[in-house]
Amino acid sequence: MGTPFAEHAAPVSKRRVSVAAIVFLLATWTAFYALLADDIDVPHSAIPVPHNARAILSQCATIHASVEHPADFALLREESDRYDAADAKPSLVRNATLWVGDGRVVHDADVLIAGGIIKFIGRGLGRREIEESGVQEHLVQTYNAEGAWVTPALIDLHSHAGVVAIPNLDGSSDGNSLLGPVQPWLRAIDGLNTHDDAYELAIAGGVATALVIPGSANAIGGQGFVVKLRPTKERSPFSKVVEPPFTYNGTGIKPAHPPKWRYLKQACGENPSRVYGQTRMDSIYQMRSLYAEAAKLREAQDVYCDRAVNHDWKGLGDFPEDLRLEALVDVLRGRVKVNTHCYEAVDLDNLVRLSNEFRFKIAAFHHAHETYLVPDVLKKAYGGAPASAIFSTFARYKREAYRGSEFAARILHDAGLEVIMKSDAPNPINMRDLLYEAQQAHYFGLPADIALASVISTPAKVLGLDHRLGFLRRGYDADLVIWDAHPLQIGATPTQVLVDGIPQLGDKPVIAPKTSAQQAAPKTPDFSNEAAAAVKYEGLPPLEPTSSTSVRFVNVKYVWGSGKRYQDKDGKMGEVVVRAGKIVCAGNCTETAADSEETLVDLKGGEIAPGLVAYGGSYALAHIAFETSTGDGTVTDSLPALTGKGALVKASDGLVFGTRDSLLAYRSGVTRAITAPESQSVISGLSAAVSLGAAHRLESGAIPQRVVSLNVKLGRGGGASVSTQIGILRNLLHGGGEGETGEYFKKAVAGELPLVVYAEGADIISSLLELKNDLGVDSKLRLVISGATEAHLLAEEIAKANVGVIVHARAYPDSWDQRRIAKRPPLESGNNLSILKAHNVSVAFGHSEMWGWRARLLRFDLSWAEAETDGALSRADFLALATTKLEALLGLEVNEADREMVAYSGGDVFSLESKVTAVIAPLQGRVDLF
Ligand SMILES: *[C@@H]1O[C@H](CO)[C@@H](O)[C@H](O)[C@H]1NC(C)=O
Ligand SMILES: *[C@@H]1O[C@H](CO)[C@@H](O)[C@H](O)[C@H]1NC(C)=O
Ligand SMILES: *[C@@H]1O[C@H](CO)[C@@H](O)[C@H](O)[C@H]1NC(C)=O
Ligand SMILES: *[C@@H]1O[C@H](CO)[C@@H](O)[C@H](O)[C@H]1NC(C)=O
Ligand SMILES: *[C@@H]1O[C@H](CO)[C@@H](O)[C@H](O)[C@H]1NC(C)=O
Repeated sequence: MGTPFAEHAAPVSKRRVSVAAIVFLLATWTAFYALLADDIDVPHSAIPVPHNARAILSQCATIHASVEHPADFALLREESDRYDAADAKPSLVRNATLWVGDGRVVHDADVLIAGGIIKFIGRGLGRREIEESGVQEHLVQTYNAEGAWVTPALIDLHSHAGVVAIPNLDGSSDGNSLLGPVQPWLRAIDGLNTHDDAYELAIAGGVATALVIPGSANAIGGQGFVVKLRPTKERSPFSKVVEPPFTYNGTGIKPAHPPKWRYLKQACGENPSRVYGQTRMDSIYQMRSLYAEAAKLREAQDVYCDRAVNHDWKGLGDFPEDLRLEALVDVLRGRVKVNTHCYEAVDLDNLVRLSNEFRFKIAAFHHAHETYLVPDVLKKAYGGAPASAIFSTFARYKREAYRGSEFAARILHDAGLEVIMKSDAPNPINMRDLLYEAQQAHYFGLPADIALASVISTPAKVLGLDHRLGFLRRGYDADLVIWDAHPLQIGATPTQVLVDGIPQLGDKPVIAPKTSAQQAAPKTPDFSNEAAAAVKYEGLPPLEPTSSTSVRFVNVKYVWGSGKRYQDKDGKMGEVVVRAGKIVCAGNCTETAADSEETLVDLKGGEIAPGLVAYGGSYALAHIAFETSTGDGTVTDSLPALTGKGALVKASDGLVFGTRDSLLAYRSGVTRAITAPESQSVISGLSAAVSLGAAHRLESGAIPQRVVSLNVKLGRGGGASVSTQIGILRNLLHGGGEGETGEYFKKAVAGELPLVVYAEGADIISSLLELKNDLGVDSKLRLVISGATEAHLLAEEIAKANVGVIVHARAYPDSWDQRRIAKRPPLESGNNLSILKAHNVSVAFGHSEMWGWRARLLRFDLSWAEAETDGALSRADFLALATTKLEALLGLEVNEADREMVAYSGGDVFSLESKVTAVIAPLQGRVDLF
């Protein structure tokens, strides 16, 4: 006999609203039916009643109707409007640990699913409850969760899936109309590509639903749509839409078809300014003038309907309508969730004033990098404070993102504002990685429940769909995920995803086993001081460390040295003593006398590990990637170099020190970076090794190696054809270069420095292997391929050619040449690392060149790769991927005694429970303390 859990009660305030709304609707509709009823005569008058009087009255009856869902919507639901009997068998998830969505956790729970909805949640569900739920027991497909975490499926509040499809092709680039800065009449559904690789990959990350919106080129970019990402039988864009408004397919709003939520995308700040060559002032004026037109139209409609309802037909004419303004009129009638991409205080203030001027509500500010600095501005918005839909750590790529903070989520939450983590798929975050955003927000201080809610229940509320999405409750859409670890642990992966009750991962999802420690939320470090400083310094807290020459670390659990991890043989905590930047004692250091300068640092069971080396990213070449005046600029033309008339570009000549991304990476355990010149041409130039903690280039050890590798970039769809690019490279490899270019290619062919070629697809990679082969078996060329998304397809050939590979964290098929990614669990077994490793390919780990901010996530990206590699590589192997292996591939000479060591308190180098507290810097003769 099972015990059902108490159904949720709708919050009082909400119930009050809906009662008021229902009373209002009843009043309107009663009037409407009274007018149409046969036994009521339309009053005689001298003025003829128009032939379409009924249609007019019908339209007028709905103009004031608001979007409402009865409080008992879910309770009364027998099956989903999205359900197709042929779709799915009923399912039963047994023995789950449910994260319900409202802060409650329920252990040992069973969830019965049929008709696309949750039929029953309880304990020890038996035959009787199954029968009472109208489900035929023999049809039920059972999943034994064995205590695993089960959450509602994730919801992405900001996605361009389908309108900016992946792989990105010109033929499916439907995200931004460039025909005008304000176009509320455009609809993302009209451009929604149904063949987007993003759908399957997002579901593999537990995401079932997304708000798909136009891009942010325009101040008003058009209407967005909430879609479920699963395939539908009809295979149409419209069949993906959740609660499609009746106006979208000609059905029209009627009493039986009440209005549903619509969604509008707006943008302020840099994007519309850049795209239309205008200013913030222009964008806001364009919005205001269109809103003013819409307000006039709404007024005209209201006057018209007042007259119609009073049978004042004389000269009434047609209902005032305008296809250009109809969506904005609906905004003013409160039937649209307005989502505005808006970063800075100036933009937020503009939009808040706009909302008050025209009296419309803003559902959420997106990106919203400064909302945490101006909570009081948000609270002044018409109808209540908008939510903030933000990134966790992606910031500083442009000026308006410069003050973004990893602590924004917790600060907003503490200020009583709603926080949502979102993707902006396909880039910079893809939907499959949405949960990672919540994991990071949690790491930096957002409470666990709020962090999970930020990608599940909060977006459901902000979308106005929390009557059916975002919670595990009876009658809700059966969109749920069974996880292999606690969802706030890095690497947590679905073992099954049900969307509308339909299992999405097939019969044999690939599961990489997780440890029991990964079944609980991580106990994250305390960042209260850092969060306070972010606010105090308006997003630019000083990041420079303080230093000490003499430090004693106590309660040290492990120390790494020469690729091994040492621990006291009795498992006791040890000490590590540093003098003048060098470790002079590790283990029992009672006999190393304390000196008067000594700083004591308690690592609370943490470890001291080698500093990580980051490959890729432009943070050592620019403070703000999109602001060319803050950095080195781009290598735009390879021809001068080719003809020998120009010098070969050296990254070491363009380095900028102390960028915020460099310092944040440093404070996250990344002590060095290898950076190539930013390039759009074939020959990028010479990469350099940089010390991320250095203040300027003249400091000791600031540039550990000025020339690391000769870098070349090959790709499709840019300027020169691939055959031209390969031809250029062949010519250079065979001595065709002149001047410095010729000189360095000769050195590369002689094996004096590695040639690193950025290439993604298997066809280009195999051409490279051929080029190497053409140099003869005795060739000393040290070829390394970076990017290398499809390298796993050629693992054997790459191993045979003795070519190294720098793989990027979690491949994603952004471009055609990346489309055959190693799909990773739960879709495919193994990832490229294990595949490459199995073939003995020399592998190292890096990030794509574009996004420097990711360097700070290196240890977590490695941890994720470790979590899904099935034990094929040890922890030491993983550390080596971003230290010694990378150095060996690139010929970076590191004297072990000069290697920076990083002290993590509270946990190990990969753990979400640890925090970097110090860097031991032998070359500088000091310890940097954070
Ligand atoms: C649920 O799963 C856990 C973990 O496997 C197990 O310890 C427990 O006994 C199971 N409970 C039931 C009711 O089967
Ligand atoms: C239009 O969409 C509504 C809402 O989904 C649906 O009820 C109706 O059947 C659709 N009509 C047509 C003609 O497709
Ligand atoms: C450390 O070594 C000293 C002697 O050198 C000894 O007295 C002490 O017990 C040791 N401490 C630990 C924790 O092993
Ligand atoms: C290689 O595998 C790692 C670990 O799963 C993954 O993070 C990375 O994205 C993959 N890279 C490529 C290029 O496939
Ligand atoms: C990889 O190297 C190991 C150890 O040297 C060897 O046993 C194995 O056969 C090699 N695998 C391949 C595919 O060459």
